[in-house]
Amino acid sequence: MDRVPASLPAGPLEKERLEALSLADMAGFLAAMLADGLENPSSPLRKPSLATIGLEGEPALRTVILRTADIGRRRLGFFTDARSPKVAQIGKEPRASVLFYDPRCDMQLRLSGRMEVRIGDEAAWAGAAPASRRAYLVVAPPGTPSPKPVSGLPADAEGIIPPLERLEEGRPNFAFLEFFFAEADIVLFSRAGNRRARIRYEADDEHAEWLVP
Ligand SMILES: Cc1cc2nc3c(=O)[nH]c(=O)nc-3n(C[C@H](O)[C@H](O)[C@H](O)COP(=O)(O)O)c2cc1C
Repeated sequence: MDRVPASLPAGPLEKERLEALSLADMAGFLAAMLADGLENPSSPLRKPSLATIGLEGEPALRTVILRTADIGRRRLGFFTDARSPKVAQIGKEPRASVLFYDPRCDMQLRLSGRMEVRIGDEAAWAGAAPASRRAYLVVAPPGTPSPKPVSGLPADAEGIIPPLERLEEGRPNFAFLEFFFAEADIVLFSRAGNRRARIRYEADDEHAEWLVP
């Protein structure tokens, strides 16, 4: 996957371009989608859905912000609260899926693989901006019932970004989620015809094939 990422099309693909599409183009779109999600804060690809398997085997989905991407090594990174239910779910069952959808070009990318939870990851914490770090000062664990609408933040962090020393106090609640994907399923929607490809990654190899959309 060391190829240069293709650029994302500005809109759904028209007939000529669609008919010329190769599996290498589809892999290029994958790389371009991840790069856009990582580099462009206003991109819809910045906020994929992360699916895990609940403690009772039920599906569990939520929106997360894409924080890191190493496309060549097929790794994505996310930040979360170590006390959030998803962390316990991943601890029990690491299989996970991440879904991206780009409404600008009507492309979907579904990645399947496994997730690892890292608590105390120095490099990830160093890469978290103060505004992101503030979330880990939340007093009660995410998902705790509250008698009224609340942010959950302590009074001194409400509405402001506290100084770095204060933000440090949230560090034990910070978890870095590292996702390793083994399979990608890419779907292009177009009035001229839909297209779908699957890429399965082995240690040093990858196998791409077209699928019926
Ligand atoms: C736009 C948006 C971005 C979000 N980004 C994150 C995120 O990066 N990490 C995270 O843990 N939760 C994020 N959330 C909150 C999650 O969707 C979810 O509500 C929360 O993490 C609790 O999930 P859980 O109960 O499944 O563990 C985000 C929510 C929205 C609406």
